[in-house]
Amino acid sequence: MTEFAEEVRLHRTTGREIPIYEYASIDSTNDEALRLADRERLPEGTAVIAEAQTKGKGRSGRSWHSPPGAGLYLSVLLRPPEEASSVPLLTLVAGVAVSTALERQVGRAPKLKWPNDLEYDNLKVGGILTEALANPERITSVVVGIGINLLQRPEDFPPEIRQTVTSVAAATGQTPNRAELAAKVLDELDAEYRRWLQDGFGPAAEAWQRKESTLGKRVRAVQDRLAVEGLAKAIAVDGSLVIETPSGIARIHSGEVTEIG
Ligand code: BTN
Repeated sequence: MTEFAEEVRLHRTTGREIPIYEYASIDSTNDEALRLADRERLPEGTAVIAEAQTKGKGRSGRSWHSPPGAGLYLSVLLRPPEEASSVPLLTLVAGVAVSTALERQVGRAPKLKWPNDLEYDNLKVGGILTEALANPERITSVVVGIGINLLQRPEDFPPEIRQTVTSVAAATGQTPNRAELAAKVLDELDAEYRRWLQDGFGPAAEAWQRKESTLGKRVRAVQDRLAVEGLAKAIAVDGSLVIETPSGIARIHSGEVTEIG
């Protein structure tokens, strides 16, 4: 085990002993976790961490800016039972875990922006990309990929995203230890995932209501090129965002959601 992986292990307070694969640089920790899951019978909770990614992936085919040491790039392998293999729900469950981990680390919880963004001051500080590996019958593994901008100054980001992103350091003035934060993320993800397996999606949905999130905000959502505007009321049991509009209730399953104040 490398020094970094050992440090992560030492900072963990819950969860089982799990393998941590660590790389100085890799294409994408999600891709590596998917490759490993395909090749080996790795235990649930196995983590892949890299100092840098050369092809970091974001949602909707976007890339995730992943310069060396500036962020946390972490993927966790899960093997949920068939009836609980829901990629959208796991993304929402993971969001709760990452928000709590950041709150524990720097004393300030980021806002949860449905479905997979974490924000400070309405600027994106982190995101979650959940991917599944399946055989013809069923999903066999799920990889939860977590990216958190830690140290970047605004000018370190590519110009095209500079206005919409931030880092933990820029937003909170703190420079969290990467191994400590990784350990907290792994602990919280372990706890939220077990809660979900045991009690279903209810506790995570409640956490979305309790924490600062898209819920309670006026939003504009675009799904299949159709726009709806209204009040984000709740997250349904299938993970969709429930919006109260002047013409009734709309459910958004995917797509872009922006707050309209
Ligand atoms: C998003 O907000 O669009 C999701 C971003 C997810 C980025 C993380 S970084 C670790 C893992 N590996 C990847 O290639 N992507 C995720």
